[in-house]
Amino acid sequence: MFFHFILLVASSVTFLCTHYVSSCGSSCTEYPVFTPSALVVKYGDPANVTCVACQKDCSGDASGLEHAVGKVTQNGTTMLWTVDRLIEWGISVMCYHNNDAGDQCCSTLDLSIYQSPESVSISFVNHTEMMFENQQYTLQCSVQNVAPVQSLTVTFYRGNTALGHLQSNSEQKKPVNETFTLNITPRREDNGAQYWCEAKLELGPAGPQPPPVVTSEKLKLTLQPFGGRNGQATWKRGSSRRFIFHFMCLKILFSALM
Ligand SMILES: *[C@@H]1O[C@H](CO)[C@@H](O)[C@H](O)[C@H]1NC(C)=O
Ligand SMILES: *[C@@H]1O[C@H](CO)[C@@H](O)[C@H](O)[C@H]1NC(C)=O
Ligand SMILES: *[C@@H]1O[C@H](CO)[C@@H](O)[C@H](O)[C@H]1NC(C)=O
Ligand SMILES: *[C@@H]1O[C@H](CO)[C@@H](O)[C@H](O)[C@H]1NC(C)=O
Repeated sequence: MFFHFILLVASSVTFLCTHYVSSCGSSCTEYPVFTPSALVVKYGDPANVTCVACQKDCSGDASGLEHAVGKVTQNGTTMLWTVDRLIEWGISVMCYHNNDAGDQCCSTLDLSIYQSPESVSISFVNHTEMMFENQQYTLQCSVQNVAPVQSLTVTFYRGNTALGHLQSNSEQKKPVNETFTLNITPRREDNGAQYWCEAKLELGPAGPQPPPVVTSEKLKLTLQPFGGRNGQATWKRGSSRRFIFHFMCLKILFSALM
């Protein structure tokens, strides 16, 4: 019974989807055209786009623009969509024209709404006071309130050297907090090195140029000398050898004088 219900729901969804797609296409010879073709808007900013629903064999009253927010000014088959402040995530704007065969020919605006990271910070996972060379540690870069996280690239740096680029698997359109990690194995020469991370929103050619970038503070690595006591012992042995050498010289000198 339950299985049948699922089947019914699944087939209705499939029907609705295919129906929607076919109603958006089968006998269409042309599709509405948006200008600009893609819109990248900062959250809270104004936006506008023009749609020409049809350019040949058109009747003006058979066109329209579906919009959840903003307003539309129509002149024949040309429509201007404007919004004073875009403060809705994941909205869609669809422009259509009904042709003589009764089909709806439509295009959906390629719209992305973005928000630069509010803050970016770097730390060591399970930070311990003592850090040693040739041990593995995990660096963590936390990015807060960024959208869309899909367009985000996080880069870890040691000084000016990029250590790795990371991206999110999330398809969330609304702002998210996300943490990226990178394992490092510091060497002796990394003592005192500064680690930091950079969050860059790459929104394509329609997006802001240069892309928004937010960087973390710098984290200084302080390594404890590994097996410090052995180091001291080596130094002592060396110095005592030098002492013996000096003593031998003196002895030779004295015996030469005598
Ligand atoms: C439409 O947007 C463009 C680019 O943001 C802007 O320069 C223009 O003034 C806007 N036009 C209207 C009518 O809002
Ligand atoms: C509508 O478009 C026509 C042709 O492009 C133009 O002549 C007319 O002034 C426009 N009307 C309005 C109200 O913008
Ligand atoms: C950090 O420490 C906690 C508790 O000691 C442990 O449960 C967790 O797995 C550690 N995380 C990493 C990434 O090592
Ligand atoms: C992200 O983190 C901040 C501060 O911890 C918090 O206020 C905010 O609600 C978080 N946002 C999400 C989407 O989890």
